[in-house]
Amino acid sequence: MHYFGNNIRILVNNLVVSYTDNGPEEAPVIIFLHGFPLNKTMWDKQLDALNENYRVIAYDIRGHGDSETGTDDFSIELFVADLLNLMNALRIDKASLCGLSMGGYIALNAIENHPERFDAVVLSDTNCIADPPKVKQKRQDTIESIKAFGVEKYVNDSIVNLFAPESFIAHKEVIRNVKEMIINTTEQSLSKTLLALSRRKATCSKLPEITIPVLFLVGEEDKITVPEASELMREKITNSTLHIISHAGHLSNMENPDEFNDRLKTFFETVYKKPELLQTAACISVFSQIRHRLNMLLTFSSI
Ligand code: MLT
Repeated sequence: MHYFGNNIRILVNNLVVSYTDNGPEEAPVIIFLHGFPLNKTMWDKQLDALNENYRVIAYDIRGHGDSETGTDDFSIELFVADLLNLMNALRIDKASLCGLSMGGYIALNAIENHPERFDAVVLSDTNCIADPPKVKQKRQDTIESIKAFGVEKYVNDSIVNLFAPESFIAHKEVIRNVKEMIINTTEQSLSKTLLALSRRKATCSKLPEITIPVLFLVGEEDKITVPEASELMREKITNSTLHIISHAGHLSNMENPDEFNDRLKTFFETVYKKPELLQTAACISVFSQIRHRLNMLLTFSSI
């Protein structure tokens, strides 16, 4: 039985994970991986734009959104294990990934180590390097500061780096939503994730081995993972392209969703070749929705 909808709960790797799953059942699957310390709702506009032709899944990485935190120490490897376990639990053999920043670290690690499970990847506002010593120290200071002064101060300190200056005027609601996502992340999860990020290994040396199609997207004013970092990665992967998103900083998918979505659509149309497949998927979608409604009617009429 396959459930579609928002905020579905599933046991993955001994942990309750919350995910959203929409679109035609038989269509190509795209899994979205959010940044730190956000949650799956950061992808709402992308899911809406793609769910007619693709099965789109976004989930809360452990310790974020509505997923449980668990007792294990966090690491990118553990996040990758969660991703693969989620795919197994949902009986998805192969999917494409779209990850932003921390989501990109996870996506890159996943495709480098388990290439047979993935069709294509979108790496947005991310990097392949490990944290330099200065950044490691800054993460440690942030952990101490959150302990001493709480999450609210962290929200105000971190938000300035996430957006292009113009977004603070043009996208006030997005800013409010992102603040809420951060404030709703527990102190424990923030610290555990900061530690995982500071301990992550570089993935750059394996870039030339990637053969699946890769699309790099990055906000033109991203201060955290600068466009030059994406350009350096793109140069090392033969089957890759890069597009700079205008009027956007680090959260480019939220600051300029139209441009971001156009690029996603064009990329996945090329990956999954063409309208016939997509039209078939759309027809199957209509049939499966009718079947789903009929099942519900039958269930309710038998109560
Ligand atoms: C993110 O958006 O996921 C973070 O900026 C990643 C990081 O701090 O390295």
